[in-house]
Amino acid sequence: MGKSRKKPDAPLLKLLAGQKLTTPPIWLMRQAGRYLPEYRKLREQKAGFLPLVEDSEAAAEATLQPINRFHFDAAILFSDILVIPYTLGQDLTFVKGEGPKLTPALVNHRLDLLTKLPDRLTPIYETVRRVAHRLSPETTFLGFAGSPWTVATYMVAGEGSRDQAVTRAMAYRDPQAFSEIIEAIIDLTVLYLDGQIEAGVDAVQLFDSWAGTLSPQQFERWVIDPTARLVEKLREKHPNIPIIGFPKGAASRIKAYIADTQVTAIGLDETIDPYWADQYLPADFPVQGNLDPLVLLAGGEALDQSITTILDAFSERPHIFNLGHGILPQTPLTHVSHLLEKIRG
Ligand code: CP3
Repeated sequence: MGKSRKKPDAPLLKLLAGQKLTTPPIWLMRQAGRYLPEYRKLREQKAGFLPLVEDSEAAAEATLQPINRFHFDAAILFSDILVIPYTLGQDLTFVKGEGPKLTPALVNHRLDLLTKLPDRLTPIYETVRRVAHRLSPETTFLGFAGSPWTVATYMVAGEGSRDQAVTRAMAYRDPQAFSEIIEAIIDLTVLYLDGQIEAGVDAVQLFDSWAGTLSPQQFERWVIDPTARLVEKLREKHPNIPIIGFPKGAASRIKAYIADTQVTAIGLDETIDPYWADQYLPADFPVQGNLDPLVLLAGGEALDQSITTILDAFSERPHIFNLGHGILPQTPLTHVSHLLEKIRG
């Protein structure tokens, strides 16, 4: 199973190999989650989000729920980008209404005083094996990790923030200590993605949700360079693994990101004009995106117009239909089925 699974007919994999398809393959970021009543039910049975991730059978079920209901072209592993800090030895809790908390925050604590706990990733590989086993050949299985910069923002501040000011300040004040954090994240992430691939994912996505707030030089140093090295290291082991990069908020810097990181495809957020992207990105380079999650929530004519615009802009290049960021928990299920009908006819 796993690696040996042959999937020549999976539309998303064909697309990632550069083939244009008349009907774009579609999946949605955060498609396993709280907008699904079956997810909320599964989640209620657990003491928290982490116990759900660590129960391989329940996590496999969460991964498969959106596939069973909507038949998306990809299943994305049910896990979180913060399992990397957790495995590097930070404590991780999800506080209701406040988001994730990591302790001790590295803004005032040395990385080398943390104790690594590699076993924390073991149940996730088991989730991958269980899902890989149950997916039909036309459904692509996506693994993922956070990009070094975005993961570092949580590790340093100990929580999420809008402007990542604590982490950006540390990166200027103490680039040596900060780069040690980045290196630790790269090394463990390569190991983690290698483990996911060995267990059976077909392609991976790198989520760089906070790539947008850096100055140009800092973007080069902390987004592009670490991502390029991560991609290179992963390809030493898996030369043919498709890698989707998603540097959210990077705006026109996605051109440099594509050229310098060598990702296979680029995820576009909803602030990017799809006509601009089609004109200025390399010909035939696969793009993914970029419907506004809020217009999927709102529905109606605005939704139809947005879908038409995106399909039109990307009609001449390989395109994976997706949102510009994760689906919102309040999104009506009927809007998701409507989207699928519009795309698939
Ligand atoms: O896409 C999927 O369906 C696969 C699973 C997935 C989750 N998180 C599950 C999750 C993926 C790909 C992620 C990525 C992730 N996690 C990112 C990058 C993408 C993005 O959204 O920007 C980030 C920044 C995180 C960190 C994180 N995890 C936050 C900020 C939160 C709390 C906010 C929230 O939505 O509650 C989480 C928790 C989380 N991760 C949930 C899910 C389904 C909700 C937890 C719950 O059910 O209680």
